[in-house]
Amino acid sequence: MDTAKPRRYNWLFFCRLLPLRIESNFMSDNEKVDKTRRQLIVATSVVGGAATVGAAVPFVASMWPSERAKAAGAPVEVDISKLGPGELRTYAWRRQPVWVFRRTPDMLQDIKKDDGVVSDPNSEVPHQPPYAKNEYRSRKPDLAVIIGVCTHLGCTPVEKTASDKAEMGAAWNGGFYCPCHGSMYDFAGRVYKGVPAPTNLWIPRYMYLSDTKLVIGKDEEGEA
Ligand code: FES
Repeated sequence: MDTAKPRRYNWLFFCRLLPLRIESNFMSDNEKVDKTRRQLIVATSVVGGAATVGAAVPFVASMWPSERAKAAGAPVEVDISKLGPGELRTYAWRRQPVWVFRRTPDMLQDIKKDDGVVSDPNSEVPHQPPYAKNEYRSRKPDLAVIIGVCTHLGCTPVEKTASDKAEMGAAWNGGFYCPCHGSMYDFAGRVYKGVPAPTNLWIPRYMYLSDTKLVIGKDEEGEA
């Protein structure tokens, strides 16, 4: 009678067998090995790729312009329904001040008087879109859209009306004065002769969306 007790295997025994079993499986089925390797490679690549993408996102994101930067360069819509005669409002577009200015009939007459005192009365220097190369440098005579940056060294001129003649001189019919070095512009943004600024003020691209709304930085040709 076999009284031998059943052999007892402890956990160490199974641990020793396990690598053999795995190896045996791999060695006995090459297809399975290839498939497993492919899966492993794919999985590793995906994980690696995901890690790479994960690591790259903050870097790429840091290269993209921020929402604020994009907004700063985007066209700006302006409601002009409440812009009264003689009123000027300033809007930021591409980090520049843009004046939207409702000129009065008197101001339009003053512009006509200025032809002899400004250096480029017909706006030959292309500092405006083609539709603003006219007497008033605008799409409609009364409404001016002008970049309020002096063409000398970039200061922002201030408005001076015809009533400021005592300060500005007898030839002054109203317009814009740059306090930095004394350049003068009329109400169409045309530069006076004999001042430091070399050219007229810039006119941005703009277009009317309706009778009461316009957009700065965009026209029929697209965005500026
Ligand atoms: S920056 Fe305007 S006159 Fe010099």
